[in-house]
Amino acid sequence: MKTLTKNPINEIAPALLESWMRDYYFSTEIDIGSSGVENFSLTELYQLTNLTQEELKNVVFHDSSSLGSLQLRQAIASRWSNGNPEQVMVTHGSSEANFLIMNGLLNAGDEVVVLDPCYQQLFSIAESIGCQLKRWQLRCQNNFAPDIEEAKKLITPHTRMVIVNFPHNPTGTSLSQQEQNELIEAVAEVGAYLVWDAAFADIVYDGIPLPNPNLYYDRSISMGTFSKCYGLPGLRFGWCLASKEVLERFVHLRDYMTLHLSPMIELIAQRVVEKADNLLSIRLQQAHTNLDILSKWVEEHQEFVKWSRPQGGVCTFLGLRSISDSEAFCHHLANVYKVLLVPGTCFNHPSHVRFGFGGATSDLKEGLSRLSKALVTDF
Ligand SMILES: Cc1ncc(COP(=O)(O)O)c(C=O)c1O
Repeated sequence: MKTLTKNPINEIAPALLESWMRDYYFSTEIDIGSSGVENFSLTELYQLTNLTQEELKNVVFHDSSSLGSLQLRQAIASRWSNGNPEQVMVTHGSSEANFLIMNGLLNAGDEVVVLDPCYQQLFSIAESIGCQLKRWQLRCQNNFAPDIEEAKKLITPHTRMVIVNFPHNPTGTSLSQQEQNELIEAVAEVGAYLVWDAAFADIVYDGIPLPNPNLYYDRSISMGTFSKCYGLPGLRFGWCLASKEVLERFVHLRDYMTLHLSPMIELIAQRVVEKADNLLSIRLQQAHTNLDILSKWVEEHQEFVKWSRPQGGVCTFLGLRSISDSEAFCHHLANVYKVLLVPGTCFNHPSHVRFGFGGATSDLKEGLSRLSKALVTDF
């Protein structure tokens, strides 16, 4: 009789953050939990890009090509990579890229180095496949700063893949250029894949964004998205930069899943990539303004919270000084104050909360005011 083997995907852990969002994203009034900037409308896209209503009306819903249209891939390669469209695949958000990367390149028993804490998709898929995870700890006592020497110790000739995300969700910490170089060198020395989640790459507060590692290392695979820095999470658009051979594997997998993107999404994405700076500059300015407001609030509430100022992205990890159960606190905040905040339990840090400051400035101020009330009077 044939023995039944387990299907790894049936073993995958529930996605805690997505589940929290499912519960509260639509039932709250003020969002200070999400990790992206304020979202754009289609009308705003007409104004900020060369997209016209006429173009949308003329879209014919034919199939798109497996990797995405050449023109779109060219635009992405020119902006975020080495100009070579052959190394670009467009995806339904970076989540799809992540799923293809893990399932396309990992096998049970493979050794994988991952950040901890970290966005769950970046390790739970590998875990469900049966990989051996080695955690690169971002330690609370070090303000969650990544220690590159620790990473070097974890990377061995047995390492198949190193998965990182900088600027980092949820802490907002990042690497210096020198540290990124050292990481690439350490991964290249053992010939492992370097998975670089660049979801927040374009929003940094000091200096310039880190370059894409695929410019220096051919076994690097990186993901980008319009969901975080570009205010378009509902467009479900992202991309993956990797060698042609690696992308071929992903196409093979996607042939059984989503096949390709919609030509309408590709058209909108094309215009956005071409005018990306128009969107980014507005949200970058807002992020700076909001971060200043948040910094002042933290200073005034030191009795209740602690943090380390984020280096990039629009989220940060706030430590709650007198609350050990952030989940109970966040349930209370959502149900009583109608404010969405993410409990640190989604990242295995129960005394922290993920705070998102990328939204409308008026929402941020209102959210902080309600948060103050809850902290000062209820807990
Ligand atoms: C670090 C990181 N990577 C990837 C994603 C997935 O985003 P999307 O699929 O919308 O591009 C998220 C979403 O929160 C994230 O925080």
